Amino acid sequence: MNFASDNWAGATPEVMAALHRANDGAAPAYGNDALTRRVTGLFSEVFETDVQVWFTGTGTASNSLGLAALSRPGGLVFCSSEAHIHVDEWGATEFQSQGMKLVAVPQAAGRMAPEALAEMMARYPEGSRYGVPVALSLTNATELGTVYAPAGVQALTGLARARGLAVHMDGARFGNAVAASGATPAELTWKAGVDFLSFGGTKNGCWAAEAIVVFAPDRLHDLAARRQRAGHTFSKARFVAAQFEAYLTDGNWLRWARAANARAEQLRAGLRGTGPAWLGWESEANEVFAVLPRAAIAAVRAAGGTLYEWPAEAMGGQLGPDEDLVRLVTSWATTADEVERFLSLVG
Ligand SMILES: Cc1ncc(COP(=O)(O)O)c(C=O)c1O
Repeated sequence: MNFASDNWAGATPEVMAALHRANDGAAPAYGNDALTRRVTGLFSEVFETDVQVWFTGTGTASNSLGLAALSRPGGLVFCSSEAHIHVDEWGATEFQSQGMKLVAVPQAAGRMAPEALAEMMARYPEGSRYGVPVALSLTNATELGTVYAPAGVQALTGLARARGLAVHMDGARFGNAVAASGATPAELTWKAGVDFLSFGGTKNGCWAAEAIVVFAPDRLHDLAARRQRAGHTFSKARFVAAQFEAYLTDGNWLRWARAANARAEQLRAGLRGTGPAWLGWESEANEVFAVLPRAAIAAVRAAGGTLYEWPAEAMGGQLGPDEDLVRLVTSWATTADEVERFLSLVG
């Protein structure tokens, strides 16, 4: 019963087999190998356009180095108040960009409303003394398990583009967003106004395989140098490429993401009733937020289960004195039996 994080899951057998295959013999280093070139082609096929692909080892590196490649003195990046870049990355974007400022926009269940973004952007008019708006960063699937459909992305990117801002998408769980929305990777990104994407593989069946996928290369400066200097230019890039080849071939990534999303839906369905455990809010991807009696949390942990408590403020004072809000994350490896066992312990 691992619901702590999709980062706790292992790599899929397909990814492990691909690593073994790539281990055969020698190959040119630093991404000059045939496999890395082939995988760049695969990314272009998946996104239905020519893309640049920059491997990194972590989502934090993808986010911070990509955004840093837009940096300007006094630069401002608008993101949701729950954005991983804002809450969890130890100031990596601020550091890599030599001090760009993240501006937190209010969100509801992880999604920014266009009105909230417009209102925040209006506080930073052209020529103001507060800084220079540079970018909008969206996360899909969001940190709170919800998903932007293409129209939702477009409503926000339209506002950003009207001000000349570049648009970044944090896709640590991009596979889960594609699987949940039913949209194509292209519809959720460049066709909806996204300039570059942090494309995550690690949470969905790889290990340490992440990439910055660039749709508008003219907007990003010195990305190669920034990645090199940050220590994310892999000498044995073929092992990252091998993971992505297995990931993208035959739609494996979407199959794994659909499996994770289906287990999350099973959790949500079990929590929607009127029992002592209840859903904090509806989500669509592989993160579920539930309110549980503390005794139920203890029972899950006593049975060897894992989960994390989540800050109760997200529930706006709706929690009873003996309840906590928890985050439950499913992955490609979660089984229906695990979910059933969890539900029987908390129900
Ligand atoms: C939304 C989001 N973005 C990015 C990341 C990347 O994190 P890491 O740097 O640990 O790979 C995570 C991981 O939890 C995440 O949830």
